[in-house]
Amino acid sequence: MFDAKARYVRGLFSKVPLEYDILLGLLSFAQDKRWRAYVVDQARPMPSERILDVATGTGLLAADFARAISPKGYVVGVDLTLSMLETARWRLQSKGIGDRVDWVLARAENLPFRDDCFGSASISLALRNVSDAQSTFREMSRATGPGGVVISLDFARPRNRVFQLFYYDYLLGIFPLFGRMISEAWGRTLSYLGRSILRARTGEQIANLLREEGIADAVSVPLTAGIVCAVYGTKRWHTSLALKRAKRLGGTGQSGNNSAGEEDESEGEKNDSSYQIQQPSGHSHQIVVGDCRDGY
Ligand SMILES: C[S@@+](CC[C@H](N)C(=O)[O-])C[C@H]1O[C@@H](n2cnc3c(N)ncnc32)[C@H](O)[C@@H]1O
Repeated sequence: MFDAKARYVRGLFSKVPLEYDILLGLLSFAQDKRWRAYVVDQARPMPSERILDVATGTGLLAADFARAISPKGYVVGVDLTLSMLETARWRLQSKGIGDRVDWVLARAENLPFRDDCFGSASISLALRNVSDAQSTFREMSRATGPGGVVISLDFARPRNRVFQLFYYDYLLGIFPLFGRMISEAWGRTLSYLGRSILRARTGEQIANLLREEGIADAVSVPLTAGIVCAVYGTKRWHTSLALKRAKRLGGTGQSGNNSAGEEDESEGEKNDSSYQIQQPSGHSHQIVVGDCRDGY
C-alpha cells in the first residue's frame, strides 16, 4: 500500500545519517544521552534479554541497550530507512558491539516478528514520524512478552509559557537556519522537526494509546523541562492470551497480521518465545529485509 508519509520520512532521513548523531547532541545540548539512559533504566533489561528498538535510526539507543544486556542478550533495531541502518551497523561495529545487534529493514506498523518474543520494546524520537502510532504500539505490544516494558521517548511541547517563548524561537527559527547552514537536506529535516513537534501528541495522549494496546500502568514523564516526554508501561499478561484467542477466532484486525498469519500462529504455539534469529556468534551482520515472521 502506498504510504505518502513513510515515503516522505524516508526521503528526509535517507540524506542525513552521517551527521545525525553529532547534530542531535549539539541541538539537544548533549541531553540526548541522559534521555537514552532514562529509557534504558525504565526498560529494566535483563542481561540475557532480546530488546526491540523500533525506528532505531543510527542505533544510538540500540547501542546503549546492547551494552546493558551484554554479554548474552541482543538487540534488534528496526527502521524503514536503509542508509540509517547502514550507518547504525557500521557505527556499532566500529565500537565493537556490532555482534550484539541485528538490523531489520521494516515498518514500525508491521513488524516481522513473532508474538511475545522480546523482553521490552522502545521507540525513541520517532513516534511523530511513523504513519500510524496506534498500529506501531499494537505491533510493539504484540512482539513484547508479558511483563515486558513498552516505552516511547519523544519530543513534546514544554508547559511553561516563558520557556515556550524561548524554545519555539529556537525550534522554529534557529533550528532550520542552523540546518540550512549545513545542507539543504538538514534545513528540510530540522524545519520538519519543528513543525512535527508543534503537532505532537501530549504525553497523556500517548499513554492512552499504549493503554489501548494492553500496556498497563502507562505513565508519562516529562524530561528536560518537558521538551521530551517518556511514556511507558508494562504489557499485561492477559494481552497475549486475548491476542491468541482473537487469532483463533479468525483474526485480530492487526496491521501486522499478514497473509502468513495462519502459519505464524501454528509455529508460534510451538515455540512462542522464539524470535528465530541466529544467536550473535552465528549471524551475518547483514541488514535483513523483514518481510516474513516465519523463520526470518
Ligand atoms: C529522528 S530519527 C530517530 C532515531 C533514533 N531512534 C534516535 O533516537 O536517535 C527517526 C527514525 O525513524 C525512522 N522511521 C520513521 N517512520 C518509520 C516507520 N514507520 N517505521 C520504521 N522506521 C521509521 C526514520 O527512518 C528515522 O531513522
